[in-house]
Amino acid sequence: MADARIFEDLKSDHDRHRKMLAQLGETQGDSPERRELFEDLRRELQAHAAAEEEALYATMLACPDLRDEARHSVSEHKEIDDYLGELLDIDMSSGAWLMKFKDMRHRYLHHIDEEEEEMFPSAAKTLSGEAEKKMAQTFEKRKPKELAMRRNRSPATTRSEFLRRAGPLGPSQFRERQAHRRRWIYAIRRRPAMETHVRDKFWKAFAASPLMMIKLDAAHGHAEPMTALLDRDAHHAVWFFCKRDNRIGQGGRAMGQVITKGHDVFACIAGTLVEETDAAVRDRHWSNAVEAWFPHGKSDPSIVMLRFEIDDAEVWTSDIGITGLFKLATGGTIDPSRAGEHEVGAV
Ligand SMILES: [Fe+2]
Ligand SMILES: [Fe+2]
Repeated sequence: MADARIFEDLKSDHDRHRKMLAQLGETQGDSPERRELFEDLRRELQAHAAAEEEALYATMLACPDLRDEARHSVSEHKEIDDYLGELLDIDMSSGAWLMKFKDMRHRYLHHIDEEEEEMFPSAAKTLSGEAEKKMAQTFEKRKPKELAMRRNRSPATTRSEFLRRAGPLGPSQFRERQAHRRRWIYAIRRRPAMETHVRDKFWKAFAASPLMMIKLDAAHGHAEPMTALLDRDAHHAVWFFCKRDNRIGQGGRAMGQVITKGHDVFACIAGTLVEETDAAVRDRHWSNAVEAWFPHGKSDPSIVMLRFEIDDAEVWTSDIGITGLFKLATGGTIDPSRAGEHEVGAV
């Protein structure tokens, strides 16, 4: 470990969170003090999680040895986010609110203890000093931006409002969102790991030829071609811009198929499309090429950016060349030693 600044930044936030949680636990009834402290806490936890994910967990996800720990932590961020949403829906003066708050506090304290005792030391042991320095810069830039963005908004007063602002799915889709999260958390905890060289080959070929046929599981129509936007540091997801009234625009469970340009990778990817609400991600991916499709610019309200959260993929790689492809397409026999590899798992 050459540069511990990122871990110091994160721990100093955690210490602030511990104090805020203790203070909020001392408040009584539906008082202005409780409301204000809760709103401060909600902003702080969400800003911290967003910046931590961009700085630390995106880096850890890109590293096979750290990927499982990163997925575990990110799934816990989602659980905490759900708690915060549910707390908005309960009368603050009721015992039920305090019970739910105490559950959330217990889960969050467990989360940050685990980060400090397990995730940070693993990351520090594995990542280079250069990576640590970059993570600190990313975190220190993103965290104040996230906080400022949340401070500029009036407090959310209902769970629906909270979800509309914080969540990828709309307010009327709360149940779907909850079910999605449960499925996602379950799936990422159970996904088998894919052989690193197969996963690497998949991402490299996909980056060179980022086209996908995609379709919502619940829709009866055909799949359609979309250009995926990839982020080298976040290989657990890809993004799309499309019109809100596009057949995938509403989001939901989806499946996409990839056949790369050189026919060296075939993949079927399962996951969930959710609206990307992070302005920084939207800005990062907006380009002249995207604007050519959407000439009214990125603030056009008819455009939605979707994040395809990948659960797992089935990947076939091949080095079989034109003759082998012809044989494959016509059901011919291919020399197994030239037929490539086949893996199912997390990519
Ligand atoms: Fe965290
Ligand atoms: Fe954290």
